[in-house]
Amino acid sequence: MTGKSYPAAPTARVFSGIQPTGHLTLGNYLGAIRNWVPLQREFECLYCIVDLHAITMFQEPAALHAATRQVAAALIACGIDPTRHILFNQSLNPDHAELAWYFNCVARMGWLSRMTQFKEKAGKDRERASAGLFVYPNLMAADILAYRANRVPVGEDQKQHLELANSIADKFNHDWEVPGYFPEIDPLILGEATRVMSLRDGTKKMSKSDPSDMSRINLTDTADQIAQKIRKAKTDPEPLPTEAAGFENRPEARNLVTIYAALTDKSVADALAEVGGQGFGDFKKQLADAAVAHLSPITEEMNRLLADPAEIDATLFKGGEKARALSRPVLAQVRDILGFVHSG
Ligand code: TRP
Repeated sequence: MTGKSYPAAPTARVFSGIQPTGHLTLGNYLGAIRNWVPLQREFECLYCIVDLHAITMFQEPAALHAATRQVAAALIACGIDPTRHILFNQSLNPDHAELAWYFNCVARMGWLSRMTQFKEKAGKDRERASAGLFVYPNLMAADILAYRANRVPVGEDQKQHLELANSIADKFNHDWEVPGYFPEIDPLILGEATRVMSLRDGTKKMSKSDPSDMSRINLTDTADQIAQKIRKAKTDPEPLPTEAAGFENRPEARNLVTIYAALTDKSVADALAEVGGQGFGDFKKQLADAAVAHLSPITEEMNRLLADPAEIDATLFKGGEKARALSRPVLAQVRDILGFVHSG
């Protein structure tokens, strides 16, 4: 294919994906979604609800359908602007699946075998894992590279997948002699500072799959539920430390102060300057007030949006069309690069 040239990749395009599963928690909000919002000021952003990824493990269709709308409503309520940026569910743009096939032929079995998320999710009985779960990272690479996006905000746990995406991009560019065709992805690792832990056990991540609803704050919780969960959150008998070093062996204290700092837009040190030395009784009231003040408008807006599902769907459809308009020329170029007889 030497001699042919293709348009340069966009220089500042953001892509990220979020799973359409269950109820979103304060952890999803502080650790991920909230960090997506300010990127909209600087970059062209695509935010994708990854239903194709979700079905690598069985999903009950009605639950998947409801979760997709709920995540869309949450993202919009949190400040993602679907008119100036692009918000859609993955299956609306079949270009992801097509490019993922090409990447199935680029990625090596060895690379995929080393993915820790596959090992964790497949568990002991790998023979019974879906083939989709194994090639999940190829689809993730395709999500990003179908738009030749180069900035990807993710949590620490997705870093290995982005390294694999870069290996795929490199091998593709190298094998088909199209240097720089797929851009190098720059992972924007966010959310580490605000890893939100369970309210019942400060050593476990806050998770929508924890059997105890008291362990998490859901974005759909009412003000009363939020206040009650914080009141009952696990603590220890000591007053709050005045410096972060005092969090040693006090995971619950660390977690609650970290949440407070994130909700009030302060560093942990500044939050401690304010609340250090307080007993948990007083501090919890303050934390509950901050959580309610921050989350109530989001919950209200989410519920307002969810009352009109047709409107949410229309927003996603529009997003899907805008997304496809961006990926279509990329896929045409890729077919050309691969040597397929194609019509553009
Ligand atoms: N795998 C990601 C997660 O589980 C979600 C995801 C899918 C994603 N495709 C992506 C994230 C592309 C960033 C870019 O959180």
